[in-house]
Amino acid sequence: MSSIVKIGIIGAGAIGNAHMGAFQKLEGAQVAAITDVFLPHAEQRAQEHNIPLVHQSPQALLEDPDIDAVVVAVPNKFHAPLAIEALRQGKHVLLEKPMSIDSETARRIVEAKEQSGKILMMAHQMRWEGLSRALKGEIEEGKLGRIYNAKAGWFRKKGIPGWGSWFTRMDESGGGPLIDIGVHMLDLTLYMMGNPKPVSVFGTTYAEFGPKKAGIGSWGTPNWDGYYDVEDLATALIKFDNGATLSLEVSWAAHAAGLSEDPFIYLMGTDAGASIVGSTGKTVTHENNIIIESTLAPLEGDARQLMSEHFVACIQEGKEPITTALSGYTNNRILDAIYESSKTGNEVKLNWD
Ligand SMILES: NC(=O)c1ccc[n+]([C@@H]2O[C@H](COP(=O)([O-])OP(=O)(O)OC[C@H]3O[C@@H](n4cnc5c(N)ncnc54)[C@H](O)[C@@H]3O)[C@@H](O)[C@H]2O)c1
Repeated sequence: MSSIVKIGIIGAGAIGNAHMGAFQKLEGAQVAAITDVFLPHAEQRAQEHNIPLVHQSPQALLEDPDIDAVVVAVPNKFHAPLAIEALRQGKHVLLEKPMSIDSETARRIVEAKEQSGKILMMAHQMRWEGLSRALKGEIEEGKLGRIYNAKAGWFRKKGIPGWGSWFTRMDESGGGPLIDIGVHMLDLTLYMMGNPKPVSVFGTTYAEFGPKKAGIGSWGTPNWDGYYDVEDLATALIKFDNGATLSLEVSWAAHAAGLSEDPFIYLMGTDAGASIVGSTGKTVTHENNIIIESTLAPLEGDARQLMSEHFVACIQEGKEPITTALSGYTNNRILDAIYESSKTGNEVKLNWD
């Protein structure tokens, strides 16, 4: 492999576009090719970002010996087939979230990664945000003590993306806000908690807006001839083997009077607590029976840029990314369990044998 990592982008949609911009700014990488099932889209992006080659199909891009690594930025249903084929073709993979539409197909990605010996990194850019890095630093210094309870989520009040498109079709997306934005909050919170092993899940999902074509947001393009069979609100309690608990709440649309639409994470530790709500970070301690709240200052740097740099560094130095394949699989296991719990009305135990 040349010292410049040659990257191929699969998927010229909204998030593929963000990846192209970020990788083009890196000295150690070159976006060498792009493809999309809708070729005019790929051709337009190639022009905008000065990408020298448009491949006629994902398979052609994956078979291109000049490409070292690929970004998989397509609807969720295609994550597993494309990531697995990429690994088989000897490419490193930066895979958009969620890892897959369910844990069974996510497990096959992990197996393919292990067989290939290549890097498989999940694109959870929220881990690189300035406040996330500052908070992780505080946790690693032991300032929070043992984190025993967390609350995380994201309430969009009118934010259903692309009604009727792949976003709102269960077989193509794997779910609604839980798998779309909830997976970011789940991933970030597990990372902050030190990746404890989830052992049981109790959850419920609701679809009160989508079926009525209400609560439509601005992300994605609606397809009014399509359909909506995913949830628009989910709530869950996750228990871990170390006794800690996480309550996760997320919506695309909700009558949530007074609730902020900012993504949030609250961590409660034995020595201190911390929170990130949108762009505000706080820490809290009790001293002499008085509550002392302080501001958590974000670290410098753009999250997406840092995530792209991390992917390239992992390839060049042969190191495991912080957003591992196992973390993507664990997220999918928890999401599956929430959907199952909602269907059966029972707690779901997670077996890791
Ligand atoms: N990390 C984030 O914050 C973030 C934000 C938005 C979306 N995403 C994820 O990115 C992925 C894409 O989302 P998006 O918003 O860009 O969607 P999008 O609909 O804007 O773009 C998807 C693109 O993929 C193309 N495509 C579809 N099937 C394909 C296939 N089999 N092979 C090649 N191209 C194919 C489509 O033509 C389209 O151009 C999803 O998995 C989504 O969850 C992540």
